[in-house]
Amino acid sequence: MSQEDANLEARLEEQEAFDPPESFVEQANVTDPGIYEEFEENWPDCWERAADLISWDEEYDTVLEDGDAPFYEWFTGGELNASYNCLDRHVEDGRADEAAIEWVGELGETRSYTYDELLAEVNEFAATLRGLGVEEDDVVTLYMPMIPELPIAMLACARIGAPHSVVFAGFSADALATRMNSADSEYLVTCDGYYRRGDALDHISKTNEGLEGVEHEVSDVVVVDRLGDDLEHSLADNQHDYDELVADYEGETVEPVSRDAEDMLFLMYTSGTTGQPKGVKHTTGGYLAYTAWTSRAVLDIEADDTYWCAADIGWITGHSYIVYGPLALGTTSVMYEGTPDYPEKDRLWQIVEDYGVDIFYTAPTAIRAFMKWGKEYPEKHDLSSLRLLGTVGEPINPRAWKWYYKHIGNEECPIVDTWWQTETGGMMITTLPGINTMKPGSAGPPLPGIDARVVSASGEEVDAGQAGYVTVDKPWPGMLRTLYNNDERFINEYWREYSDEETDEWVYFPEDGAKIDDDSYITILGRVDDVINVSGHRLGTMEIESAVVGVDGIAEAAVVGGDHEVKGEAVYVYAIPEDGYDADAELEERAVEGVLDSIGPIAKPEDVVFTPELPKTRSGKIMRRLLEDIASGNELGNTSTLRNPGVVDDIAAQVEES
Ligand code: WTA
Repeated sequence: MSQEDANLEARLEEQEAFDPPESFVEQANVTDPGIYEEFEENWPDCWERAADLISWDEEYDTVLEDGDAPFYEWFTGGELNASYNCLDRHVEDGRADEAAIEWVGELGETRSYTYDELLAEVNEFAATLRGLGVEEDDVVTLYMPMIPELPIAMLACARIGAPHSVVFAGFSADALATRMNSADSEYLVTCDGYYRRGDALDHISKTNEGLEGVEHEVSDVVVVDRLGDDLEHSLADNQHDYDELVADYEGETVEPVSRDAEDMLFLMYTSGTTGQPKGVKHTTGGYLAYTAWTSRAVLDIEADDTYWCAADIGWITGHSYIVYGPLALGTTSVMYEGTPDYPEKDRLWQIVEDYGVDIFYTAPTAIRAFMKWGKEYPEKHDLSSLRLLGTVGEPINPRAWKWYYKHIGNEECPIVDTWWQTETGGMMITTLPGINTMKPGSAGPPLPGIDARVVSASGEEVDAGQAGYVTVDKPWPGMLRTLYNNDERFINEYWREYSDEETDEWVYFPEDGAKIDDDSYITILGRVDDVINVSGHRLGTMEIESAVVGVDGIAEAAVVGGDHEVKGEAVYVYAIPEDGYDADAELEERAVEGVLDSIGPIAKPEDVVFTPELPKTRSGKIMRRLLEDIASGNELGNTSTLRNPGVVDDIAAQVEES
C-alpha cells in the first residue's frame, strides 16, 4: 500500500460520520429537511405524496381506514392497475423507446426491453394466462430464476388481477409444494433450467418433483425454454412450452383490470418462528405507492437513470426494488442472471461500466465478498457513472461500509443502509441521501411518516445508547395486510407483543433488536426470534431443524446461526444420533442432504456437530444462546441454569477439534 493509500485508510477508519457529497445533494429528489416535520404534522395525509406518484383509474376517498385495526386499509375507494402504472403510462408519456429492463445473462447474452417492448410481452403473456383460464384473484405461482420472463409474468398477472406468488428458484421441490399448497395455487410458470457459474442447472426435474407434493389439481404449468434445447425433457399433458403458447397470442393486448386499492397484488412466503412459512399479503394501492415513493426518496431514482438492484426477484427486495418501484418511476432497471464472480470477480463492475449504472443496491454479504476479493477488481473499471449506493438485508459492519464508500463510490456517492422486511413492503429506517449525515453501521432515522422506535421489553422507549426492540407505532401504506388465510397468525406474530388491545392501540413488532443513538439514529442488531440471516436471506431455524430431524438416524437437532465473515450468519446444526446409528461422515452428509432437499442450497449447514445431548434448561428447553456462542466462537455465557451443564464443554471441545 502506498503512503497516500495508507493515510486515506487511516482517515477513513477514524471517521464516524459522513455528509452527503455536495454534488449529490444538488441534484437529489428530496433535499428539504422539513419533510420530517411535514409528514408528522400531516399524518396520515402526508401519504398522498406517495399516492400522487401513481396513476389511479378511480381516485381514492380515504387515505387511511383504521376502523378495523390492525387490519388497516389504505387509499380506500381508489382503483388502479400495477402493470398499467409500470408500463402503459410511460409509453403514453412518450417514453416508449426508453429502456425498461436491461437483462444480462450469465454467459454474456443480453436482452434489452424498451417500455414499448416490455408492454407488448406483458400483454401477450397476460392474454396467454387468460387463455389458460386464469381469472382475477387466482394465485399464479412463479418459480423462475433471474430471466426476463419472471418480471414479464409478474406484470402479466398484475394486469389481469391475478396475484402472483414467486418462489425463489434456489428453493427446493418441497418448498415449492408447500407454497403452492398453502396458496391453493393451480397455475405455475417455471423454466427448464438456468445457468450458474457456467453450468446448466436442471430446474424442471425439481419442479416436477415439487408438483408431486401438491395436494390439489394443478391446471397448467408453463415452462420457459431457458436452456434453448427445445425442451428436450418431455412435457406432461398440462405442461406447455412458453414460446409455443404465447405465439398464439402474438400482438394481442389485454385491457389492464382496474383493481381496488386493497386488492391483493401478490403473496410472498417468508420464514418465521415456526416451521411453516408465512404467506405475506401485499395489496395494490398502498404497496405500489410506497415502493414508488421510497424508490424516489431513498434510492433517488429518476426516469432517466440506469438503476441496478443486484438482488434476486425471488425475494422481496427484487419485487419492490427491481420490478415495482423502479418501473413505476419509469427508470431503466438492470437485471443480472448470474453470480458476481463469474467468469471473473469483476463481473458486476463490468456491468456497471457497460451500462453506465447510476444507482447500485446490494447486500452487505456481497460487499464483504468484494472486500475479500480485493479492490483491484473494481479498480479495473470506470465506475464514475455511479451516483448513489445502497445496502439491504442485514446489518453492515462499518469496515464493509467504508470499503464500499471508497472503492465503489470513490467517496462521491452517499450510501443508504435500508432496514425493512418482506412484511413492510418497502424501506422503513434509512437516511435520506440528500439530507442526512451517514454513520457507518447505523441504518439512520426512521423515514418521514414512519413511527419506528426502540423500546424495552415492557414497551418503554429506551434511552440513547441503550438496546431494545424495534416497534412501529403507526401504520404505513406498504405494510402487509395479513398472512394469507390466517388472520389469527397475523395478529399473533406481529401485533400481540406490544399492542394494547383494550384501548385499540396497535403496535407492529418486526422482531428485530436495535440500539438507539443520541441523535435518534437506529442501529439494527438483528433478529430476536428464531430466524437467522444467511447472506441477507431469511431462514427459519425451525424449518431447518425439522429437515434435519426428518433424516433417518437423527433423534433430535438444534439449529442456530453463528457469526460468519462473509455470510454474516451461517447455519450450524447440533444433532443427537438415534440409538444404533454412528455419528459418522455418512450421517453428517445425510443431514446436509436433508436440508438441501427440504429448503435449498442457501440453507446448507456450515457444520454438523453430533452430540449425545443438547444443552437444556431444567424445564427442557434447548439453550440456543449457548449453541450460538459455541458456533460463533464466543466466550460461553452462564451455564448454571442448565440441567446438563457438562454437555456445553463437551460440544465446545468437539467443535474446536474439528
Ligand atoms: C434484516 C429483506 C440490518 C432484519 C428486505 C429484518 C436488516 C430482516 C437490514 C428482513 C438492514 C434487513 N440492517 N438488518 N439494513 N435490512 N435486515 O424479510 O433482521 O428478507 O427483520 O427482507 O432482514 O428480511 P426480509
